[in-house]
Amino acid sequence: MKKKIKVFAPASIANLGCGFDIMGMALDEVGDVLEMSLDEAGEGIAITNETDVPLPEDIEDNVITPVLRKFFAMTGHAGRVEVRVLKKIYPGSGIGSSAASSAAAAFGINELFGAPLGEEDVVVCAMEGENLASGGYHADNAAPAVMGGITLIRGYDPLDIIKLPVPGNLYCPVIHPHLMVSTKEARSILPKEIPMHTAITQWGNVGGLVAGLCTGNIELVGRAMRDVVAEPYRKQFIPGFDELREKLLIAGALAMNISGSGPSVFALASRSDLAQKAAAIMERHFLQHGIQFESYVVKVSNKGARLIA
Ligand code: HSE
Repeated sequence: MKKKIKVFAPASIANLGCGFDIMGMALDEVGDVLEMSLDEAGEGIAITNETDVPLPEDIEDNVITPVLRKFFAMTGHAGRVEVRVLKKIYPGSGIGSSAASSAAAAFGINELFGAPLGEEDVVVCAMEGENLASGGYHADNAAPAVMGGITLIRGYDPLDIIKLPVPGNLYCPVIHPHLMVSTKEARSILPKEIPMHTAITQWGNVGGLVAGLCTGNIELVGRAMRDVVAEPYRKQFIPGFDELREKLLIAGALAMNISGSGPSVFALASRSDLAQKAAAIMERHFLQHGIQFESYVVKVSNKGARLIA
């Protein structure tokens, strides 16, 4: 008998400024939707794209495939899985497009078989998709896309994911300027070593960010969300980056950073009206630079991958 489900997994923001490769947060409502069906008597994987977003024709190049294979390898289960991609975040946007598909596929296949894997192992499956997309086992998008909320990867070997509290009033204007920045390129320009004083500044900020989230001190969260490791090199890809941040902070935003490896940029605000104001400033900024964009204002969400039908 064929089982069929519909799964959603959210977009996410990796790094959160100072937490390069170790922190991420899930966004509400923006994300990927997959319809998945299982025939335990059959075999093979089929993926069809029902969206306007171009996806690889060959299933070997689709992030969903290695995720499903990892699930089968970890559990010993087998069957034919058919996936219809119904909604897709644009790839290369910097808000966890590959992680959203990977997380939805990992969560969905686990549900179809009665949830034999725990949440952390579902993230391990999703990381296979991230590896295909960017050549590395990062969980900074995959963990929040599966688990929701704000996650800290305390360690990768072994994987140790900590879910941090999400203060109730965190709003996030996110803008995706239509600029081409590949994660590979954005990583290749980073230095392999950093000076001690840079490391001290960064780990002070990571500690401050975690403390701010745990105590609900939003001003501390904003103050700590500063990146001295990757941003100095990556901001060159975003026209007028420093000027935009200054305008946003004057208008009451708590912080502004690059989302993941870019080109999306996000700000943080403690009120919905301040978030809307920040979004309008971001939109005007990119219009003035002649750059098209998509813009969202989202609440940081505790909900991760989930069934929607
Ligand atoms: N943390 C990664 C980076 C992005 O900043 O390159 C997504 O894994």
